[in-house]
Amino acid sequence: MVQLLQGAALPVAVCAGSLCARWGSSHGGHKSGQYQRSHGPNWRHALAGLLAGTGAVLAYGLHHSQTEQAATTIVQPIAPASSLPIYTQDEVTKHRSVEEGVWVTYKGSVYDITEFVSMHPGGDKILLAAGGALEPFWALYAVHSQGHVLEILSEYKVGELSAEDRRKQQSVKSTDPYSTDPERHPALRINSLKPFNAEPPPEILSDNYITPSAIFFKRNHLPVPQVDPKSYRLQVEGVSGGAPLSLSLEELKTRFPKHTVTATLQCAGNRRSEMNKVKQVKGLNWGIAAISNATWSGARLKDVLLAAGYRPEVAQQTSHVQFEGLDSDVTGTTYGASIPLNKAVSEEGDVLLAYQMNGEDLPADHGYPVRVVVPGTVGARNVKWLGKIIVSDEESSSHWQQNDYKGFSPATDWDTVDFKSAPAIQELPVQSAITQPAEGAVVERSAEEVTVKGYAWSGGGREVVRVDVSLDGGRTWQVAQLQSSEKGQVPAPSPPPGRAWAWKLWELTAPLPPAAQELEIVCKAVDNSYNMQPDSVAPIWNLRGVLSNAWHRVKVTVKEDEEEQKLL
Ligand code: MTE
Repeated sequence: MVQLLQGAALPVAVCAGSLCARWGSSHGGHKSGQYQRSHGPNWRHALAGLLAGTGAVLAYGLHHSQTEQAATTIVQPIAPASSLPIYTQDEVTKHRSVEEGVWVTYKGSVYDITEFVSMHPGGDKILLAAGGALEPFWALYAVHSQGHVLEILSEYKVGELSAEDRRKQQSVKSTDPYSTDPERHPALRINSLKPFNAEPPPEILSDNYITPSAIFFKRNHLPVPQVDPKSYRLQVEGVSGGAPLSLSLEELKTRFPKHTVTATLQCAGNRRSEMNKVKQVKGLNWGIAAISNATWSGARLKDVLLAAGYRPEVAQQTSHVQFEGLDSDVTGTTYGASIPLNKAVSEEGDVLLAYQMNGEDLPADHGYPVRVVVPGTVGARNVKWLGKIIVSDEESSSHWQQNDYKGFSPATDWDTVDFKSAPAIQELPVQSAITQPAEGAVVERSAEEVTVKGYAWSGGGREVVRVDVSLDGGRTWQVAQLQSSEKGQVPAPSPPPGRAWAWKLWELTAPLPPAAQELEIVCKAVDNSYNMQPDSVAPIWNLRGVLSNAWHRVKVTVKEDEEEQKLL
């Protein structure tokens, strides 16, 4: 197993042509065995996703097992032998690439999962599992339902692991890389525990204009790194004509003016669950609250780049600023992303190297001690636990910049997707959603009116100028009241054009339509470029379920009063 750890430069399997071809649209053929492949690509992606998500964790856990004392045995009891061939671990280990075949072991059985691997765009992560045991993945990453996955896996069984190697596997120890993750607020709705991904209940979200940090949505791809503020250094490299710069946290705080920006962060996958209802997509099933609003304080990225020797003339030669997080898998692969250089250095871009959120040190989940805040830009580029800034003529080579967080046509599926063909998401489109009432809520007829609340925001600093609300599925509309500060506070002055980084909360109280037994409440926002949300999900459906910004619809029931009911 330890050999896996040396496989940092394993080949990337981005849907290798011949193998993908085997997954033709009919998926008619199946291997012998009781489980037929009639369930379509979704299940295959479930396994592929499971493997992808856990690859780094497996490796991380094993790495720690070598260095840490506290360890638990996580390999399960050995399965009974079958008539299939017996393989040694050495033989299994030889199968670590699409070319050689991708084999894994589970409970003493050997599986050939080459076909799964070939389907997944993040194949480099999957391949971390190749040639080794699956148990450490599954012990540490409990996000997917393993029942279905195991059933599918059984179809790919090719043999048994030798008795000696099974014994060796049982002595493999691992620690939980997430054991040092911070405590979280119990109100958060958890989408995955390891890594931690959670959103607040929508009705709480719109209670505050500035989202309290504890319930601000959290989106982590890896364990939260432990960063010692005393030894922390921020490295700045690649500035043409400048010299590499290394800043302590103290230097970042004292050498540069402190700026504060109120900015909304939204995950590209916000409202993905609505796309899932049209057709299954791959990714965490976010509701409408993978979005939050905070004040962020820190040094301007522009000022730090100037201190590193950046001169405006350079903008003609280099075009990206890359960020590396300190959260990494055992191969040393860090979370990374990049933004266009002109956004980074623009006076109006307001890009911050933030060390405070809502007036306090950044919480661990939100990037302590320093994160990038790129107002108006998709959450994925707001790199947390920032370790390195690189000015470059290339975009970040990270998986999350190259093979994820990109939009595609509804016609594109996992057999045809070419991640190189689409630009990385930067500015997000106009968005709004209803936080109250909730889907399925009951409104009393005696109340005579209904109050609808929600949020609205647009990317790129475009200000939301109007939110329309309908109580009858979009036939008639009313204009909601917009709120751009905490309730009861003096409204904040309008932001300068192109710098509207914060959301607007909105509210509408309207008479209940007479005789309506059910209301289909709909909202749609308009930004100052007159961009509007699309009316339905299907035409913007995409296989990763990103950029989900159709009109938001909520159905509620109107309950007649008992007296009135008697009269009816
Ligand atoms: N930065 C690092 N280092 N690691 C991560 O996993 N997740 C990104 C981004 N920055 C991530 C990261 C994504 S996808 C989003 S949506 C935002 O952080 C979420 O920020 P939050 O957790 O503070 O809400």
